[in-house]
Amino acid sequence: MFGGFEVFKYVKLLIVCSFLLCLVSAPSWSKIRDGIPCSSCHTMHYSQNGGVLSSWGKSGPYKALVVNDCLGCHTGVNNGQNYTPYVYSTSEPLYGQTGTESNTNTLAGGNFFWVANGSDDKGHNVRPFPEDSVFGNTPPGGTALSSQLSCAGANGCHGDRSKQDEFEAIIGAHHADDTTIDGKTVGSSYRFLLGIVGYEDPNWEYQPDVSHHNQYKGYDRASETDVDKSTISYFCAECHGYFHNGSGQISDNSAGWGSPWLRHPTDYDMSNTGINSEYRDYPGNYAASGASGSNPYSVIAPVGSENVSAPKTNITFQKDAIVTCISCHRAHGSPYKHILRWDYYGWPEKTNTNGCNACHTSKD
Ligand code: HEC
Ligand code: HEC
Ligand code: HEC
Ligand code: HEC
Ligand code: HEC
Repeated sequence: MFGGFEVFKYVKLLIVCSFLLCLVSAPSWSKIRDGIPCSSCHTMHYSQNGGVLSSWGKSGPYKALVVNDCLGCHTGVNNGQNYTPYVYSTSEPLYGQTGTESNTNTLAGGNFFWVANGSDDKGHNVRPFPEDSVFGNTPPGGTALSSQLSCAGANGCHGDRSKQDEFEAIIGAHHADDTTIDGKTVGSSYRFLLGIVGYEDPNWEYQPDVSHHNQYKGYDRASETDVDKSTISYFCAECHGYFHNGSGQISDNSAGWGSPWLRHPTDYDMSNTGINSEYRDYPGNYAASGASGSNPYSVIAPVGSENVSAPKTNITFQKDAIVTCISCHRAHGSPYKHILRWDYYGWPEKTNTNGCNACHTSKD
């Protein structure tokens, strides 16, 4: 039997061990972790005992000898422990007001559930869900795609968009070492978005807080035609070009770049606004949980930064208060019209949450 002192020693040892284990396992979270059997994701012949396993997709064989297509593997319910990020759930996910509260189970990109269930304007209409009845395959602000939007490939978002096919566009990425996100290869780009950089939250923003969230790349640009091709907003602009940059599209006042705007600015740093402007009170009432000190980060209306080496807990207005497309939108889908992060059209009648006020702090 252990005496009281021994017990204390063992408890201490246990704490130290689990801390070390955390250090060892955390950084490899967004690549396929060592020790997961190949057979949980691959099948050599797309056949077992002469048939197809119930856990596999039914339209194989699939490229790269995987057991399902992109959507098939990425369908499920997130619980904060799963090693696959789920972006589609077959029953309604818990989004709460903003998809960030402690009772939610969606990730940073949101979920395709709503667009898949008849609400065209609540998500990107990726295959195999129906095409958008209003836009077809034409992204507003850009030119028509050659066919319906898909997860990856020439008409998709992830992977090398110069490759037509989904798996050709992404091959090698899932097993790639992503400890350094430099945008040089698909695997070392932010969330396999080729050329884009950023800090990747290991939990894909499952119930994020002030120190656990993605850190999006932004750029403090000098004109409406100035672009940095590694930002998250530039990524959206690959299809929605004129909503981000272009001559006469965003701001053509005498100063070249500034208020009054033609379209809502993105890759615009709020540090350019006056020291007493409403923006200096970011994030108003929308601080992330766990916040302390001045100008904490908001996971409801996130801002980008030029330095993305780590998640920021507080904004200093030094190229770290940059408006991005996903300050207001989710990338995959949300329960709100135009894939907005909060119920923009429902405020103030139906909700008291309006993320616009995280920056427009005197307009509530
Ligand atoms: C959790 C799922 C998962 C597990 C486990 C897994 N793979 Fe993969 N693997 C994938 C996916 C998805 C792809 C295709 C997309 C890609 O390449 O990014 C892939 C692609 C590959 C490729 C082609 C691309 C490359 O990186 O060379 C090889 C080879 C491969 N896997 C071998 C293995 C072996 C061997 C194991 C076991 C030691 C294994 N995989 C375990 C999911 C998995
Ligand atoms: C066999 C199952 C499987 C298939 C097929 C698969 N994925 Fe994944 N995917 C995973 C797993 C597991 C992870 C988490 C580990 C990782 O990032 O490699 C993941 C991670 C990702 C991520 C997040 C990467 C990050 O930085 O966190 C993206 C994006 C992604 N997959 C896209 C795709 C696309 C696009 C396809 C189709 C071309 C696809 N996946 C096919 C299992 C799969
Ligand atoms: C590969 C091209 C492509 C990229 C990249 C892309 N989109 Fe789209 N987007 C489209 C297409 C096509 C449509 C119209 C069809 C649809 O709604 O799916 C669209 C529609 C939209 C809509 C309107 C949805 C509706 O029905 O009201 C929003 C909002 C949107 N995109 C935001 C974004 C944001 C934010 C990003 C970056 C995170 C982005 N898009 C990146 C192609 C793209
Ligand atoms: C992440 C911060 C942020 C969020 C969230 C945000 N805005 Fe803005 N908005 C700005 C900044 C910064 C400017 C430019 C201010 C300037 O140049 O003085 C701006 C400009 C504007 C303008 C044009 C003002 C002008 O001077 O031309 C309007 C209108 C506007 N926003 C409305 C909205 C609405 C509505 C929402 C919610 C859907 C919203 N904003 C969300 C930061 C934000
Ligand atoms: C300040 C918040 C905010 C930012 C930043 C923002 N959007 Fe929007 N977006 C909205 C709102 C609100 C709507 C609803 C329509 C409107 O008010 O114009 C919308 C609508 C859209 C639509 C649908 C347009 C249509 O014709 O129905 C697309 C596409 C879109 N946004 C893409 C983008 C892209 C791409 C970016 C970045 C370059 C971006 N948004 C940045 C708030 C924003």
